[in-house]
Amino acid sequence: MPSPRPALGLLHPEGIEVSSNSRCPHRRRAALVSGPPPNPKEATHTMTQTLTFTPEELLSSEPVAEPLIANGVRCHGGFDADGLYRSPRTLCRLPAIQAWQAQLSDQGSPLIEIPRNLMPPQYPSAVQAKLLLENGVREPVVRALTIISIVEGFGAMIRDVEAPELRKLFVEPIDGTGLDHLTGGLFEAHARDESGYRDEGGHKQMWEAARDAGLENPKVPGDVLMRLMGRRGRGGAQQPAFPEIGPELERMLGFMANVLVVEVFAEGTFQWGIDVLSDPEISAAPEVAGGMVRNIQADEKPHVDYLRTALSEVSARTIRTVDDKTISGKTVVDGLLHRILSQMTRNRPGDQREDLREGLAQAISVATNPGALQEEFDALELPWTPPETTGFEPAANGA
Ligand SMILES: [Fe+2]
Ligand SMILES: [Fe+2]
Repeated sequence: MPSPRPALGLLHPEGIEVSSNSRCPHRRRAALVSGPPPNPKEATHTMTQTLTFTPEELLSSEPVAEPLIANGVRCHGGFDADGLYRSPRTLCRLPAIQAWQAQLSDQGSPLIEIPRNLMPPQYPSAVQAKLLLENGVREPVVRALTIISIVEGFGAMIRDVEAPELRKLFVEPIDGTGLDHLTGGLFEAHARDESGYRDEGGHKQMWEAARDAGLENPKVPGDVLMRLMGRRGRGGAQQPAFPEIGPELERMLGFMANVLVVEVFAEGTFQWGIDVLSDPEISAAPEVAGGMVRNIQADEKPHVDYLRTALSEVSARTIRTVDDKTISGKTVVDGLLHRILSQMTRNRPGDQREDLREGLAQAISVATNPGALQEEFDALELPWTPPETTGFEPAANGA
């Protein structure tokens, strides 16, 4: 966490006047280190105060010396006096997440980690994407980049998640946890990061800018959104995995677990974007376009971190069931993560491949020698088999 700079004379990313009084109180972190209680059942009022933040604090940004302008659109975040990119809305959000994670650690509760070997590879691979671009075949890569920007924009849906009254649903207190701040700034900050806020662009606009800078304002296929929506609608409604916790809580936890997995798997997408758009052989603006993806990548860290913190806090607690019994939070969180990870590792590679190959032959037809290019493209295909276990199996965890 860089040291706060004086607000005077500096631009604030959201155009909001931030006085020194409303800045994130760092003294709270110091108070935390002095010794939180050993488990959630012993939470005290004193500790609650050290770990409690207002929505305004969680949404506050560090003033920046230079705004981020992407493709003529003012975006969130910006650059400090040293030219380093500063993610938006992290002035208090980062120390808050660190404090909640430290609390979990002090309580002896583990922080959920999604195994990276579960992350399916991007299709087409960076090498395949470069091969297409080198041969003048742009449509599949433009489509892939456009899908990423659209999916980023969908992130705004997180602010519409209906959260039940969580205090009533857990046996142990939730004061001073990330869980208690989900609708008090965390979901909103996440939504603004992904899809922009007011006249300020977010990740959707930043990916579009990276695409347009790197590939020189390419023609974007008109059916990207339609095909994407068609694919998303195919899954149908899922049966509840834990009817005993009630549909509202399961929907919220399921949504969070799903977004966490998507965010973790996106790390591969970011690396792919950087590899492709930073390559001077095929990118018209390797520094601008690659740098833009790196900025987005930096903004994603708090998303992964607050979600896994809040889900870990659920795991460390006991949930009251609708029939006045209880169930371990770990059983529920592991069960939801296992279901999502099993589905995504099984379906995502095939979906991505099918989506791309649907129009690949036609796209390749613009190449000088389409047959040879298709062969070369296929020869670069790397088979991927998902690991047999997710690490969240009920049996593996003794739940
Ligand atoms: Fe994002
Ligand atoms: Fe994100």
